[in-house]
Amino acid sequence: MGFGINNRLSRIIKPKTGKTVMLAVDHGYFQGPTTGLRDLKKTVTPLIPHTDCLFITRGMVRNCIDPRSDVSVCLRVSGGPSILGELSNEDITTSLEEAIRLNAAGVGMSIFVGAPNEDRTIANLGRLVSEAERYGMPVLAVTAIGREMARDARYLSLACRIAAEIGARFVKTYYCEDFYKVVEGCPVPIVMAGGKKIPEMDALQMTANAIKEGASGVDMGRNIFQSDNPVGMIKAIRAIVHKGATVDEAFEIYSKK
Ligand code: R5P
Repeated sequence: MGFGINNRLSRIIKPKTGKTVMLAVDHGYFQGPTTGLRDLKKTVTPLIPHTDCLFITRGMVRNCIDPRSDVSVCLRVSGGPSILGELSNEDITTSLEEAIRLNAAGVGMSIFVGAPNEDRTIANLGRLVSEAERYGMPVLAVTAIGREMARDARYLSLACRIAAEIGARFVKTYYCEDFYKVVEGCPVPIVMAGGKKIPEMDALQMTANAIKEGASGVDMGRNIFQSDNPVGMIKAIRAIVHKGATVDEAFEIYSKK
């Protein structure tokens, strides 16, 4: 049942382990040329062999990713405001037709629970899911955090559950204390975003905690591409996510230049 959507999801969340290492490189859609992604092609090319799925905009796919690469793509399809504006003022910016043309395995957009335009972003998710399901395209909902909101299990549970209720096939959210409670309340897979760059050891520990508490993998950006050893870092993250490596084993992997 649902071959298309499940086959697409299997290109993101690998059936062998039930987990995924997604590399998030979509930051430019509102931040411009973020540190580490100024030359996206140069940064991402060496990471592709270690990536299950890129989270990226259509413009960067077209211009910076070799079409012969066998990495899957989850397209960021929402946008609108820049960092200078009201971030929750997002709309859908990329059509499903374009996602299919780019051979996307999924599409993703942000919802802004607790922010000025929460209702519009949640309604946009509903519309995107209704259209995407027609083509067997899984939707990833990203729980963007309004400036005033606390990153705690109560808030993230609310946001993730809403995303699943509206029909997201998987959800991306941040790590928090008692993360397992967020996972418990959300019937679809959750992938962890990394957030701002932190020391490598801490990012590896956070990843291990998230996996132990039920995350289906990561959709991580800055803690990989802003590392002093991005290839080592993504390999280390992979070892934790897919092979159950300990944090110390993973740190070893990261440390090898
Ligand atoms: C945030 O909205 C962006 O879409 C990123 O994809 C997300 O935050 C994950 O990247 P990072 O690990 O750098 O937080």
